[in-house]
Amino acid sequence: MNSTETKSFGVLTRDLALKIDSIIEKHQSNSTKLIGILLDIQDVVPRQYIPREVAAYVSEKMNIPLSKTYDVISFYAALSDVPRADYIIQLCDSVVCKVTDNTVLLNTITNLLGINEREATADGKYWLEYTPCFGACDISPAIRINGKVYGNLTTEDSIKAALSQYK
Ligand code: FES
Repeated sequence: MNSTETKSFGVLTRDLALKIDSIIEKHQSNSTKLIGILLDIQDVVPRQYIPREVAAYVSEKMNIPLSKTYDVISFYAALSDVPRADYIIQLCDSVVCKVTDNTVLLNTITNLLGINEREATADGKYWLEYTPCFGACDISPAIRINGKVYGNLTTEDSIKAALSQYK
């Protein structure tokens, strides 16, 4: 019996375990690719985070100490060990966006959704977090929602239009 067959509890359903197996296989089970593996896994876990059972499963499958897996999860801001949401809204906090003044953007999002940074809405749909520059400096102020970039968000209407894509 392999580990996929023996582990099916909590967040780690059999379906999720199969997806994780396939991601590990795609990365040739290479421990030097652990960050990429965890990022890919996080994308397929509901609310986009790495639950403890999942971290333990990956460690076991890849023969990596759980403490090392947690070192990686806690070091990289793009990885989360707490439940986030269906839609991750990332607000750039690097220099160009700060100079452009993203205050309207931040205030509009927090007012519309009723959340502050590193908080999720009660329905688990939206999560707001800061992130380093994601290469949209020429269209700042910008946000990224589940990896898709929206730029030139200087008005409340433009921000609402971006958010309306995610319901
Ligand atoms: S500085 Fe904000 S996207 Fe580059």
